[in-house]
Amino acid sequence: MIKVTYVAHDGSRTDAEGELGDTVMSLAINQGIDGIIGECGGSMMCATCHCYVDEAWVGATGPRLDGEEDMLESAASEVNERSRLSCQIKLTEEMDGLVVHLPEEQV
Ligand code: FES
Repeated sequence: MIKVTYVAHDGSRTDAEGELGDTVMSLAINQGIDGIIGECGGSMMCATCHCYVDEAWVGATGPRLDGEEDMLESAASEVNERSRLSCQIKLTEEMDGLVVHLPEEQV
């Protein structure tokens, strides 16, 4: 299992355990974590799965994929260099312990 910690905008933390191939978005939805909506189901058509990868994990999650940059322009909250679409972060063994921060709002 791969542990992911979601840190809400108010600082509260929720841990979840996913499997290889889950995405940070799908895991959040399956675990009922507030703060990730994932309206388009992961097809990079919405930006309601925006998250900020914790500084310590930027290397493990890698760069944004093609198309993510454009979609992030329609994110509801501020976008920074650690912004990702969580539906595009597929869990790998190297991401065990991953921490992502959730934006103030998604819509
Ligand atoms: S779920 Fe829609 S872009 Fe990620």
